[in-house]
Amino acid sequence: MSIPRISPRAVLLAAALLCARQALAEDPIKIGMVAEFSGPFAAYGKQIHGGIKAYLQQNGDSCAGRKIEILLKDTTGPSPEVAKRLAQDLVTQDKVDFLAGFGLTPNALAVAPLATQAKTPMIVMNAASSIITTRSPYLARVSMTLPQVTMPMALWAAKNGIKKVYSIVSDYAPGLDAEAAFTKSFTAQGGEVVGSARVPLKNPDFAPFVQRAKDAKPQAVFIFVPAGEQGIAFVKAFTERGLREAGIKLIGPGDVVDDDVLEAMGDPTLGIITTHHYSAAHDSPENAAFKKAYAAANGGGSRPNFMAVAGYDGMTAICEVAKKLKGKLDADAVMAALKGLALKSPRGEIHIDPETRDIVQTVYVRKVERLKDGLYNVEFDKFPDVKDPGK
Ligand code: PHB
Repeated sequence: MSIPRISPRAVLLAAALLCARQALAEDPIKIGMVAEFSGPFAAYGKQIHGGIKAYLQQNGDSCAGRKIEILLKDTTGPSPEVAKRLAQDLVTQDKVDFLAGFGLTPNALAVAPLATQAKTPMIVMNAASSIITTRSPYLARVSMTLPQVTMPMALWAAKNGIKKVYSIVSDYAPGLDAEAAFTKSFTAQGGEVVGSARVPLKNPDFAPFVQRAKDAKPQAVFIFVPAGEQGIAFVKAFTERGLREAGIKLIGPGDVVDDDVLEAMGDPTLGIITTHHYSAAHDSPENAAFKKAYAAANGGGSRPNFMAVAGYDGMTAICEVAKKLKGKLDADAVMAALKGLALKSPRGEIHIDPETRDIVQTVYVRKVERLKDGLYNVEFDKFPDVKDPGK
């Protein structure tokens, strides 16, 4: 019997293929996280990364046989040029499989064209102006859009006896989106916006705006400020200028009563009604498990907010896609797998709209109450399956 001859070329080819397969299996899944880790918006990066860490705590640090590697890059604030440079380094030098993070809209908008050029899937974990998902076919959003979380507020207010509202928003894309969505839905229900103001994104002084709102004698002030420190400053000005005492209500998307700072805002928040997609008080087994993992992964002490839950869901989405594709993360295949992806999130059921790559989710109506362990946004009504109304 003769032994079949194998050509040296065939041996080399087989070895190369084997190496390629091994390299694929051994290579980590690299996620370049571009977010705000210092400056006045530093809590955004911390919360989003905290949510990612909660996922890894719960599920281990590899998916589809590949280890997860997170590369953190700090934009230092709303800094489109910095965000772009950082993302460029991540795609060209680090050759990341995903870009992720993005607390602030200007940073997400600056990076979106790069996702297209480099064919690198980009997962937006907070930035919430409507337009972002239209800026690259390689972009999907797991957080929210301002019109999506605002429209239910307008409907709820109109239905609950509020007829005259003064609007105050932060003067950049998410604020303008919130103002437009509120005005459109509220006036369509017969409500009237009796005045409006836009405040600077950087270092706003709310007192004069709040005074003007008071002078217009509305039943409620509609407010959107980016979550965190600005919410504290706004509620302080609202209280100090006596709007609460004058019987003027505060309404808006839930950013102003962000879970991360609610306790610091104290009793003046009691009774504030807002609409949003996540509250740390959401009552479900998934949320209980998430909060436990978040505390274990982040040393306890701080509460996860809506940005943390988006970080967690974004990481879940990446892993689900990796499993579905057996670890082979071709960008077009990744985007196809993301389209229509449905998850049981700590906030409830969510899915990615296959047409827009934007999130579809329940928006809850909540009221600030004091529970056993502090102040919480307690959900009491909901609008299921809400899409961005402009899409
Ligand atoms: C945004 O910049 O898109 C943004 C930031 C903070 C929020 C919501 C939206 O609370």
